[in-house]
Amino acid sequence: MKRALIVTGGGDCPGLNAVIRAIVKRAAQEKDWEILGSIQAFNGVLWEPSELKVLTPDVVKGIHFQGGTIIETTNKGGPFAWPVKNKDGSYSAVDRSDEMIRKIQYMGIDAVISIGGDGSQRISQALYEKGLNIIGVPKTIDNDLSTTDSTFGFQTAVEIATEAVDKLVTTAASHNRVFVLEVMGRYAGWIGLNAAVAGGAEVCLIPEFPYDINIVKAKLEARFTRGRGFAVVVVSEGASLQGAGLSVEENDEVGYENLRLGGAGSALIKQLKAAGFEPDMRETVLGHLQRGGVPIAYDRVLSAQFGVKAFEMAMEGDFGKMVAYRHPKFISVPLIEAIAEPNLVTLDNALVKTATGLGISLGIDLPKE
Ligand code: F6P
Repeated sequence: MKRALIVTGGGDCPGLNAVIRAIVKRAAQEKDWEILGSIQAFNGVLWEPSELKVLTPDVVKGIHFQGGTIIETTNKGGPFAWPVKNKDGSYSAVDRSDEMIRKIQYMGIDAVISIGGDGSQRISQALYEKGLNIIGVPKTIDNDLSTTDSTFGFQTAVEIATEAVDKLVTTAASHNRVFVLEVMGRYAGWIGLNAAVAGGAEVCLIPEFPYDINIVKAKLEARFTRGRGFAVVVVSEGASLQGAGLSVEENDEVGYENLRLGGAGSALIKQLKAAGFEPDMRETVLGHLQRGGVPIAYDRVLSAQFGVKAFEMAMEGDFGKMVAYRHPKFISVPLIEAIAEPNLVTLDNALVKTATGLGISLGIDLPKE
């Protein structure tokens, strides 16, 4: 009997369960494979006693349209930075990766399939370099992983953000207001840009292009005549004013290593007021609503394709690789390539041209072609 272990790491993402189900269903067609899930990323292996769940077709029945992950996840700690409490109450990060790899091998696990974003795939690569048979599946609503055309969960997040723009347009128009919608995406503006185009926002501010407040103000003022008018601004959580830093929130959770972004929308409203912009403004922060709930059909299909391919890679022993979607194919790419560069919006991206072609301001002067 061969064994594959699934881990879901980092922030949850619509489609995780659909990937898990696809792996299990594909594996069930082979008589000699057992699929296990580690609870809460690699914690399930590292805990004493360990917490693994046997994933049979029965266990994964009907989960493809459930949000979240049935094997839980975490974006804290991990095998290379396991938090250990010191006598004085502080925490130190301990590298438990060697011990974990030994444990996984002792458990008779032939392949690990790690479903996660850039942080998780960095861990996958480091574990692979230490000898673990590991395969990555690209997961993130941010769509910031390169080497794949798309990550699952992203289109669902865009759908939710677009719905929010649609709703804000009607209330903005009724009240002659400017609505600022803050969306997720970390350092990538894909969710913001797609939602702005799909929802018909007037301004879209993304992390890749720090904005000039006077350009934003001029665009919004042009939407008002004698105090009447409205506009919707989509602002990515990682967007910032030219020369200013990111908007961040404090976070004292043990082992949380990311910068917690937040406040870009309210910062923008303050900057517009300070610049003399007069119409009423309101802010909506969409937050984790973009990550919860059912995946849209596109993401379920993508997840199924990733899951089936990942299991086939496990059977073939194609380790140290990540599944990637390169239309119309599903291929495997070295993890090291997948984590080398993030996938960010560039000025020459077709969607940037579409957005500006629609008259959406990105808050910057665009270079003349
Ligand atoms: O990477 C996914 C993401 O949702 C980002 O868009 C966001 O910045 C971050 O995770 C939020 O993380 P947390 O769930 O830890 O607050």
